[in-house]
Amino acid sequence: MLHSIETRSLTKSFGDVTAVNDISFTVDNGEIFGFLGPNGAGKSTTMMILTTLLKPTSGNAVICGYDVMTNPKKVRENIGYVQQESTVDEYLTGRENLLLQAKLNHIPKKEINKRIDEVLQLIELSEKQDMTVVTYSGGMRKRLDIAGGLLHRPKVLFLDEPTVGLDIQTRRKIWKYIKKIHTEFEMTIFLSTHYMEEADQLCDRIGIIDGGKIQVIDSPENMKNAMGNEVISIILENDKNFDSFIVELKKIEFVKKINKDGSKITLFASNGTEVIPNVFQISAKQNIKITSISLTQPTLDDVFVSFTGHEIRDNDAGFNRKREHAKMKRLRA
Ligand SMILES: Nc1ncnc2c1ncn2[C@@H]1O[C@H](COP(=O)(O)OP(=O)(O)OP(=O)(O)O)[C@@H](O)[C@H]1O
Ligand SMILES: [Mg+2]
Repeated sequence: MLHSIETRSLTKSFGDVTAVNDISFTVDNGEIFGFLGPNGAGKSTTMMILTTLLKPTSGNAVICGYDVMTNPKKVRENIGYVQQESTVDEYLTGRENLLLQAKLNHIPKKEINKRIDEVLQLIELSEKQDMTVVTYSGGMRKRLDIAGGLLHRPKVLFLDEPTVGLDIQTRRKIWKYIKKIHTEFEMTIFLSTHYMEEADQLCDRIGIIDGGKIQVIDSPENMKNAMGNEVISIILENDKNFDSFIVELKKIEFVKKINKDGSKITLFASNGTEVIPNVFQISAKQNIKITSISLTQPTLDDVFVSFTGHEIRDNDAGFNRKREHAKMKRLRA
């Protein structure tokens, strides 16, 4: 068996909302595969189907050879799932949380302590294991969440936005642990993220998901190459009609793609230094004033724009909504 995950025409609707829309993809054994997409793209819904917590409206998914609909128990034995929201109990210690998790996962009694020591060491929480989680930082809580997902040594680990809301240093640390888990446990990892840099750093392949649809699947390298190796960002003086300007820009040799957002025009090109003089020539001819022009290497952000037509919105409203939701869950508990 070559694939750890395989979906065919997976679709999930909630009333009128099609959260996941006819998604087909495979993830190879041992691969780190990432879903990159904005709020509401359908990342968590897909993950919940793959982890047997939601039933698809149509289509199917197979994990480690087991169908999520007909063999959910076998699927659950083979996977670890670290949800977007923390599931640890704040009033227990780190170790107590893992003990609870080990029991829920039916880990043999005589194995439990060894397994807990192993995961605590892996994510470097051994020293803090006897402190209550209330005293943990956001990064430490996330590490504990991840440790809980590893206890039963799953073949496939699902990480739903493992670093959302954490500062950049803490995110980098979490990346380090994810890489370590990948090599030490030889796991297949499926993660979702809003962050370009995260997908670029961690993933062998990335699926860009937007509006419930996968827009493209490829390696970070190929994605960047497909758009040319340079990005020219042009800011124009005012936001008037630049249609004829864009028509002419499209004719320039080496220009592969153009995106327009208000008075900002982004050109994806294979030979930027040749393109820039042509841009100035056309703007002079059409009497269009350029405020600034810059030449950079494409980032995954640029890739997202080129495939979806808009930038990734790291939407504060969405984030706050989630925080509220988490708070409610804690209050109810
Ligand atoms: N239980 C539900 N009932 C109704 N609509 C839902 C439900 N769960 C998700 N949705 C909708 O489905 C769409 C996809 O949501 P999903 O949570 O999968 O997105 P996401 O990519 O994980 O977003 P985020 O980055 O905010 O976590 C959204 O429009 C969301 O409002
Ligand atoms: Mg989500």
